[in-house]
Amino acid sequence: MPKLINLPKIADPRGNLSFFEENNQIPFAIKRTYWIYDVPGGETRGGHAFKQQKEFIVALSGSFEVVVNNGNKEEVFLLNRSYTGLYIPNKIWRQMRNFSTNSLALIVTDTDYSEEDYIRNFDDFTKFINLK
Ligand code: TYD
Repeated sequence: MPKLINLPKIADPRGNLSFFEENNQIPFAIKRTYWIYDVPGGETRGGHAFKQQKEFIVALSGSFEVVVNNGNKEEVFLLNRSYTGLYIPNKIWRQMRNFSTNSLALIVTDTDYSEEDYIRNFDDFTKFINLK
């Protein structure tokens, strides 16, 4: 299941610093980075699962919730710290919601972008995980 990962925080009166490295703080090698920003109030993102792709999500600014579902159980994670991220393995349905004004979601993944890796229908998702 998805899990929160606390990242190093180098506290400094000049401003704090956090970081993560592939196969160290996060359990995969990074292939791609994207970010979600300028989300209008009330909008949601996600609403799909990945067959293979793993992700790590950090709220670099502001806050939002990530709702995850493994087909049996739903969990809601609030991301609102620059030093805590959410690891989401493959085969997990997810939706992002309740974005605060000016929030910024940073996402790193272990794959190139591939539409074939998406499962965009929840019924197809439950069929997929029950087949595998
Ligand atoms: P999508 O992953 O569906 O967005 P969400 O974060 O809400 O799940 O991606 C939206 C569109 O952006 C989709 O048409 C494909 C494109 N896209 C890329 O071209 N490259 C990428 O790395 C990502 C994440 C999306």
